[in-house]
Amino acid sequence: MKNKDERIGGRMSRVDAQLKVTGAAKYFAEFEVPNLVYGVLVPSTITKGTIKSLDTKKAESAPGVLAVISHLNAPKTPAYQTEEPSKTSSGRGPGMKAFHDNNIYFNGQPIAMVVADTFERATYAASLVTAQYEKSSHQTELKSNLDKGITPKSKSLQDYQRGQKDAYQTAPIKIEAEYIQPTEVHNPMELHGILAQWEGPDKITVYAKTQGVKMTQQVIADTFKIPKENVSVHSQFVGGAFGMSLRVWPHEIATILAAQKVQRPVKLVITRDQMFTIAGYRPHTHQKVGIGANKDGKFVGISHWANVQNSNYEEFTEATVGMTRFLYRSPNVNTTYRVVPLDICTPIPMRGPGEATGAFALESAIDELSYALNMDPIDLRIKNYPEKDPEQDLPWSSNHVREAYQLGADKIGWSNRPKEPRSKKENGMWVGYGMATGTFGAHRREATARAQIKADGTLLIQSAASDIGPGTGTAMVQIAAEVMGMPAERIKFELGETAFPYAPIQGGSATVASVGSAVHEACMALRQQLVELSGNALKKAKVDTLVYEEGRVRSPNDRSASIAYTEILKRNNLPMLEVTKEAKPGEEGKKFAMYSFSVHFVKVHVHPTTGVVRVKHAVAVADAGTIVNHKTASSQMMGGAVGGIGMALQEEAVIDHRYGRYINNDLANYHVPVNADIPDIDVLFVDKKDTYINPMGAKGLGEIAIIGMAPAIANAVYNATGKRIRELPITPDKLI
Ligand code: MOS
Repeated sequence: MKNKDERIGGRMSRVDAQLKVTGAAKYFAEFEVPNLVYGVLVPSTITKGTIKSLDTKKAESAPGVLAVISHLNAPKTPAYQTEEPSKTSSGRGPGMKAFHDNNIYFNGQPIAMVVADTFERATYAASLVTAQYEKSSHQTELKSNLDKGITPKSKSLQDYQRGQKDAYQTAPIKIEAEYIQPTEVHNPMELHGILAQWEGPDKITVYAKTQGVKMTQQVIADTFKIPKENVSVHSQFVGGAFGMSLRVWPHEIATILAAQKVQRPVKLVITRDQMFTIAGYRPHTHQKVGIGANKDGKFVGISHWANVQNSNYEEFTEATVGMTRFLYRSPNVNTTYRVVPLDICTPIPMRGPGEATGAFALESAIDELSYALNMDPIDLRIKNYPEKDPEQDLPWSSNHVREAYQLGADKIGWSNRPKEPRSKKENGMWVGYGMATGTFGAHRREATARAQIKADGTLLIQSAASDIGPGTGTAMVQIAAEVMGMPAERIKFELGETAFPYAPIQGGSATVASVGSAVHEACMALRQQLVELSGNALKKAKVDTLVYEEGRVRSPNDRSASIAYTEILKRNNLPMLEVTKEAKPGEEGKKFAMYSFSVHFVKVHVHPTTGVVRVKHAVAVADAGTIVNHKTASSQMMGGAVGGIGMALQEEAVIDHRYGRYINNDLANYHVPVNADIPDIDVLFVDKKDTYINPMGAKGLGEIAIIGMAPAIANAVYNATGKRIRELPITPDKLI
């Protein structure tokens, strides 16, 4: 009997669960190779200026030290002689030239790397390196530099206008407010770094923490001007990333230079405090939203401005104002996006990049408007539901957000929500309910998979995909099991190796859609070949009218005449049968607006005297098409909700602007939710197939899991207390 949990829509446990919980899964830092030595970075202690001199003598004579590498003695990086690193490799290059010159762009920038025979000795020697600087004055504060914002080059973030500009100002009912998102840092459990080894003058092998082995391969090949095939990247397991490993960072290139210099493999694992300074973050953003409506709640206009902090050496953008253009039907919309260059490291996408920040502003503003209109915030959203995408003027490939509102409202008990803010108490605590919508593009990229069926009846599928935690291999096995009609235990999916066929980065919630489509197509092609080789009457039937089950194929009305895949191989004297298939998105993307949607509901308690907020219950609803695996998808939605609670109530990376330096760059002072902060989280899926998007009908859900959670909490806090907090995180001091 086929096990439904092993098919698309099942609840199969992770294929790598045992490896992970027993410690058998190996992360990059756990690899050992012969002659391995250890690198430790020396950070800049100034924020802007140049290095006048470096004193490395003491470090060099410390026990076990092989070298101290800096701009003074690093091997020349071929591409850096002529090219700007941010312009190479589709913007996924390191952005800044590691150990290339004496310029300092931000505090904590690596100025040298000590290489020693043990990590401890390298750490000690790194403390002995001193630098003399020529300091310049720096700017790290967004608030005092808002007037320095510039329009980014990015096409999608140019000023946008539909209808009249700032039409909200003419509406009978309007609100206008500013919203502030602080800097947040990904802080996955696994620290960043790389193990780099030269296998010859133009051959490099790395064990990396990356969201895309092919991406890392391309960047390294471009940077060192060597053939792509000469760069091997291994990254089978990643201990969380949330976006921080979507590019190659300068310290990775520095490690490859160090390995070249000492002619030994070098491992670098950066420290927790360096995770704040040199590996990206969600950018601090000041936003303003204006919304105007008629008395019946119909939107007249929405305006949305965002000022986003950036580095001084390259441009980073994210779709902070993107959803405002299409999430609601408003005849007049304008959006403005500016980047503010500051003397800090470049940001990088962090779960729900842009949209999570933008939704805090937009979805808080809509909640504010609902009170001004004296209207239920769900009714207000439904009133302005767009039947088609108003930005592209295209029909939705699927949009069940109204059903999601209903599902979530029922589950949280929305009817218990007090209509008047600050009007209901439970056990001495103010009670409030809030909700907000999230959306993210349902993307799909080109991907390739190789499928091999073997004489022993097993199926091996390979693709250079990544798994930063969602359970990619499990979903791929289910897709293959569904198409091939095979038990999951006989299917293996391998990923995380550049030797496998091309897969895109795991980013932007697109892996199931992209790699899943390739697995689907490869398996469809494989079973077609099996039928063609079957040598019996099956050949005459259409491949997709046949029944595939238990590793056998048969015509639908003749159970007795089934034939095993292994038998087909045997009859043809084949030890195995292999197909490789590339799957590309079709033209549907031009005909339909493709988005995933989420709706978050929360119930909060707020302590009347201390201002402490407790999330008592959360409901996350996703309209993400077909749910390939309900267990892993639920986990992913819960993880996003936890991230949203951190975003709403706790997370904030703080810089002391006098020095341009982070002052809470550790997990003691940068607060993230712990178990006791997390309530019951119910996850609900609309679970309706999107017929246009890919063979599975699945839309992504990694990002929508967090997008909308923070404003849902802010809205619930207002409902509970009558205090509108427009600056995250909502810490007790803001409520008393
Ligand atoms: Mo996701 S922020 O694209 O890793």
